Amino acid sequence: MTQHHTILMTPGDGIGPEVMEEVRKIIAHLNQKNATNIDLIDRPIGGAGIDRDGVPVTPETIEIGKKADCVLLGAVGGAKWADIDYALRPEAGLLKIRKDMELFANLRPAIVFDALIESSTIKPDVIRGLDILIVRELTGGVYFGEPRGITPLPNGERQGLNTQIYTTSEIVRVAKVAFELAQKRNKRLCSCEKSNVMESGKLWREEVEKLGADYPDIALSHMYADNCAMQLLRNPRQFDVIVTDNLFGDILSDEAAMLTGSLGMLPSASLGARDASGHQNALYEPVHGSAPDIAGTGKANPLAAILSFAMALRFSLDYPQLADTLESAVRQVLNQKIRTADIMDRECELVSTSQMGDAVIKELAKV
Ligand code: IPM
Ligand code: MN
Repeated sequence: MTQHHTILMTPGDGIGPEVMEEVRKIIAHLNQKNATNIDLIDRPIGGAGIDRDGVPVTPETIEIGKKADCVLLGAVGGAKWADIDYALRPEAGLLKIRKDMELFANLRPAIVFDALIESSTIKPDVIRGLDILIVRELTGGVYFGEPRGITPLPNGERQGLNTQIYTTSEIVRVAKVAFELAQKRNKRLCSCEKSNVMESGKLWREEVEKLGADYPDIALSHMYADNCAMQLLRNPRQFDVIVTDNLFGDILSDEAAMLTGSLGMLPSASLGARDASGHQNALYEPVHGSAPDIAGTGKANPLAAILSFAMALRFSLDYPQLADTLESAVRQVLNQKIRTADIMDRECELVSTSQMGDAVIKELAKV
């Protein structure tokens, strides 16, 4: 009997529903082959949640997410909801589900596929074979620190305030995840902060350094985040795993994504702690946004969403081989020069979102 799993699917806004439709097709295919036995529960999130429920994510949805084996999220946001208060915007739904499910470790791999090496703006020699993993702290730092807000000052000016806060336990738990992932990779970990300017960065460096004593097999280094931004362009292959805070991780992971030339290709996993029963909250989403400008045109690249599902197969459903199979199906499709618009190249075949999904399923059907 194939083990039963439940997944919460929150397609979200813009191209989110379109790319998640392709993941749905892949799950249906795997279920039909008895390779998986996955039930999907569907809920709106982001703008779609605001339109249906008046809030970007409901407590009910978050409860379902906590009980499910994992959450698969499309993307959130769009101009329609841009004027709403921060607390009720589509993005607030994403931040709330991350926070309430305590998804403190965000894994963002940046891998250069050989077939796509020409799509990068960086010289092929600099990025060939690139395979780095950014571990971004996701539930702390300036994203959530209090006090925050915009307040009028007596002199008639207004003041915008956000607070960067990290406690030792917040630093240690995400750093542990990064050390453990480095152990399964090339055993190099680079921790990034601004300890030359920020107390929170000084604490970050001290705690990571201390923890490093428990991982003598890992070559630990420290870098200021601005230098890391520069080194990512200069010589990205010096990195294996990078661990950093919420805001630096947001920025550095976009930069790393663009090294690969194709934001439409990059998956991510957001993980919580494993509880005593072995359950771990987890959410998987493409790194790209909701791209409202191309929503509904069939131009969206579903591969980041599909690769996010592959990460779910590996980390949450305990199907590492199926994850490998799905990833190599994607690689095969790229080798066949099948491309969505964002990764289109000379002498390649331009396909729509759903044709790309079909091409992946065709490869999967061969195994
Ligand atoms: C990301 C996004 C989000 C973030 C936004 C949509 C809130 O940019 O996941 O990287 O800043 O974390
Ligand atoms: Mn971002």
